Formats: sequence, structure tokens, C-alpha cells
Amino acid sequence: MIKSENIKVCVFDAYGTLFDINSAVNKHIEKLGENSEAVSSIWRQKQLEYSWLRSLMCQYTDFWKVTQEALDYALNSCGIENNKLRGELLDAYMHLDCYPEVEEVLKDLKEKGIVTAILSNGSPEMLKAAISSAKLTDYIDVVLCVDDIKVYKPDPKVYKLVTDKFNISKEEVLFHSSNSWDVAGASSFGFQVAWINRLDKQKETLPFKPDMEAKSLNEVSKVFK
Ligand code: LAC
Repeated sequence: MIKSENIKVCVFDAYGTLFDINSAVNKHIEKLGENSEAVSSIWRQKQLEYSWLRSLMCQYTDFWKVTQEALDYALNSCGIENNKLRGELLDAYMHLDCYPEVEEVLKDLKEKGIVTAILSNGSPEMLKAAISSAKLTDYIDVVLCVDDIKVYKPDPKVYKLVTDKFNISKEEVLFHSSNSWDVAGASSFGFQVAWINRLDKQKETLPFKPDMEAKSLNEVSKVFK
């Protein structure tokens, strides 16, 4: 259960939580045809796998390079060789749509005097482009990205960026993510955590649980009166 009276900052994961990662492929669905679903899911899975592998190998490169490496794997696995389409998919990823409720929820939190932040694997350039193209600039107070510490989520050093930046305790943070592995990382670190389970995914069996589960961010903003 969320203890809202303790919350000083609402922190949001970016990709999959604020921004619709499938909107990149959906913008080019006619060119990808029957491969579109496979390209989108393999792209995301490999993007995450490569971020975890690079952290464990201490071989950091920024998330834009990882995103390109992952897209190349996805296109290769579907037998697609098309440099123009590759460029179009990457450009679409730089300017993802945000989910329908995001702007309203962030605006509501700001009107309630809540500080808002993004904590993301995304590179500074990726996040700047995504926030700007989704017109969320006025509703995000701080953007924290892993590029400053050269290691990816769920390394605890990433979540510590938040408590260091705001000089607050872990319990004063409400962290929101649609990614169950990120939820486990944030819970393990000690944040209060809301799992935005947009795709009705199965619960993880890890012992690091969210404090609430919601289908969208709408349910979370009700936590604050
Ligand atoms: C992020 C990805 C992992 O925004 O969703 O950090």
C-alpha cells in the first residue's frame, strides 16, 4: 500500500511507462507487414538484454547505441535488409508517442505541488527528443539518466541518483515503471513502487514486490488527494 503522505517526488521510468515503445514500429507497420510484431518485441527484448549484459561486462555504451544494436539484431532475425527503413525506425524511436493518460496525469501532479522526475536508461539526447516531441517539457521537473554513472538499471547506483539529487530518503520516492524487472530493482533499492502493468503481464516470483499495481497512471494520481 502506498504511504502517500511520505512522498516527496514522483519518479517515472521512460520507455514503456511514459513512452509507447511499440509506436516506433506502428508508424511503419505497412513496410514491416507480418514481421512488425516480431521486430518490435525482439527489438525491445534485445535492447534490455544488451543493457544488462553491458552492465555485467562493465562495457557501457549509451542507450542510443544499444537501441541500434538491438534493432539490427531484430531486423537480421526477420531477414530484413533495408537501411532506409532502419533509419526511419530509429527516427521514430527518437520521437515515440506517449501513452494517452500521461500528459493529464503529470499536469495533475504538478497542480498538486508534486515534484516529478524521469529516471531512465535513455541517453540525454533520446530523452530530450522524446519529452519534447510528446510535449511533456512543462510537466517534468528533473531528468536523470544513467549516462552520468555509466551503468544500467537495475544496478542500485541508478536508483541512488534520485535520493542523491533530491537529498531525500528512499521511502519519500514513488517510482513508477511498466517494466517488472525495473519494479523489482526499485523495490529492492527501497523506493515505494507502482507497477504500471499496461499489458497485464504475469507477476514476477522475485521477492522484491511493488506497493501497488495499476493498469495505467490514472490510478496512481488518485493516490494524492
Ligand atoms: C528506461 C527503460 C529501461 O526508460 O524503460 O529506463
